[in-house]
Amino acid sequence: MKRLGILTSGGDAPGMNAAVRAAVRTATLHGVAMTGYIDGFSGYVADEVVELDDRAVGNIIQRGGTMIGTSRCPEFMDPAVRKASAAQMRERGVDGLVVVGGDGSFRGALALQDECGVPVAGITGTIDNDVYGTDETVGFDTAVNTALLAIDQIRDTSESTGMMFFVEVMGRTSGEIALHTAVAGGAAGVVVPEASAEIESLIGQLKGSFERGKRSHIIVVSEGDEAGGAFAVGEIVGKALGQPYRVVVLGHIQRGGRPTMRDRLIASEAGARAVEGLLAGRSGFMVGRQRGEAVEVPLRDVVAQQHPPPALHLLALAQQLSG
Ligand code: F6P
Repeated sequence: MKRLGILTSGGDAPGMNAAVRAAVRTATLHGVAMTGYIDGFSGYVADEVVELDDRAVGNIIQRGGTMIGTSRCPEFMDPAVRKASAAQMRERGVDGLVVVGGDGSFRGALALQDECGVPVAGITGTIDNDVYGTDETVGFDTAVNTALLAIDQIRDTSESTGMMFFVEVMGRTSGEIALHTAVAGGAAGVVVPEASAEIESLIGQLKGSFERGKRSHIIVVSEGDEAGGAFAVGEIVGKALGQPYRVVVLGHIQRGGRPTMRDRLIASEAGARAVEGLLAGRSGFMVGRQRGEAVEVPLRDVVAQQHPPPALHLLALAQQLSG
């Protein structure tokens, strides 16, 4: 292989830049050039590229977002589009592709390999931590830490005024961000899509807590919860308790910001391993992290299997420790 391509796809995640840097610098070490596709699969389809050498990826490891842009590209679901793009990639002299994203992006990568024979490797890049085959996705740790920072500040207001706060965190259909944020943020309660009937028990628990004289109450609500997010949960619980409350939706704040050490490390390891794997002749794998080690997981398994249910014991732990 003389040249590889790389793209970042789906929602941006802190640490994507670290992954791009590691992939480019590992390729350079092996005498292989790197083409960056702009805005994910959209740039791959439109052949919009940037040359990535060691200098081009300097001073990015500490930056959130992705320097090569990202997008969601429904067009890439079309096999004819994939075929034309793969031919275009070959004309450009690109011999294989590294895809940084979530399971939707990996579905596209796998189809490219199966239908067009393009060697592909995946690196996780999503704050949601909902990808099969890895204990943590690149971006998750930073997103949780960002949510924590917000909660620590909201707590000051909650303690001062005695108002309850319902804080909505991202995660699409996954409660991972909510559960980890709740325990680490000392929340009074947490509501996630993977658990049902928590609202009744939350009301009972908060009632007891008010009776015991506790002043600050933070309830973390995952955006994907079937009750309909923090506004809906706040209304039900606030009404049931007759207590004043406010709602804060953290939204895209969680997607930005400088990546934590953990995300930089996981991304750097994965970027290097993805390129080494492709150069060793392997394809159709994602570099994940299991029990502290970087591992290659077949993309076929990643797209076919569900991420295991989140650590629901954290829900009970958050309640147990809420005081
Ligand atoms: O997948 C990452 C994520 O941030 C989810 O947590 C969230 O539901 C979604 O993307 C938001 O997507 P968009 O930026 O397209 O609104």
